Amino acid sequence: MIERVPSGIPGLDQLLGGGFVKKRHTIVCGGPGTGKTTLGFEYLYRGASQYKEKGLFMSLEQSPERIVEGAKNLFNKWEWDKHLGKNIMITRIPLDDFNNIQDLLREYVEGNNVKRIVIDSLTLLKLYFRNQDAYRKHLYELLNAMGEMECTSLMTLEKSVNKRTITQYEIEEFISDGIINLYFVPKERDRIRVLEILKMRDTDHSTRLSPFRITTDGLMISPEAQMFGNID
Ligand SMILES: Nc1ncnc2c1ncn2[C@@H]1O[C@H](COP(=O)(O)OP(=O)(O)OP(=O)(O)O)[C@@H](O)[C@H]1O
Ligand SMILES: [Mg+2]
Repeated sequence: MIERVPSGIPGLDQLLGGGFVKKRHTIVCGGPGTGKTTLGFEYLYRGASQYKEKGLFMSLEQSPERIVEGAKNLFNKWEWDKHLGKNIMITRIPLDDFNNIQDLLREYVEGNNVKRIVIDSLTLLKLYFRNQDAYRKHLYELLNAMGEMECTSLMTLEKSVNKRTITQYEIEEFISDGIINLYFVPKERDRIRVLEILKMRDTDHSTRLSPFRITTDGLMISPEAQMFGNID
């Protein structure tokens, strides 16, 4: 029997067959502004508010203050003050300290009983490794460590392609247990947001393209909606 960690995000758990697989690690891939950070934040917020699971947001980019400001602005109906610093912790990994990322994680996870982790983004983490082999080894060890700590994680990855027929994959995509692709594709005079699950080890999942919106109440994913547009 597979244990699930529901995201709580409307529509997403249905696509995942009930939620993320516990102790597995999923990459959220997409171009700029596709909603990667937003999805990560919502996973933690809903974990805390709906499932009483504590979350840790590890940023390599923005300061915790900036992240909180952005989240409060976007999801302005949510009870942030009830959860921030208690059920949702936000930290920035110091740029010269990525070697200690595992120790830092362990400290937070064990000290606070954290169950959900978001790393934003792997793209920046990768910059600190001189070669691909070293990065691959570290990433592999990091994912194992998070699994041993009973955590289920999301990690963002910048990928500025808007085509599904891409044949070039990054090493993160092979190492991770799951991949969610976010697209922001042209449609007539506008663009629409589309979510796709590319891989999810140990579980069946939807293979459909699902349109979604970013709203002040979180992502609204429509698993049943028909997707029309030029995404190929
Ligand atoms: N109040 C809002 N209502 C609807 N959409 C919003 C709102 N606020 C922000 N957005 C959308 O969310 C997008 C930002 O999403 P997010 O920061 O999660 O993207 P990202 O994939 O992490 O981007 P990056 O690669 O730059 O980090 C904005 O570009 C905007 O289109
Ligand atoms: Mg982002």
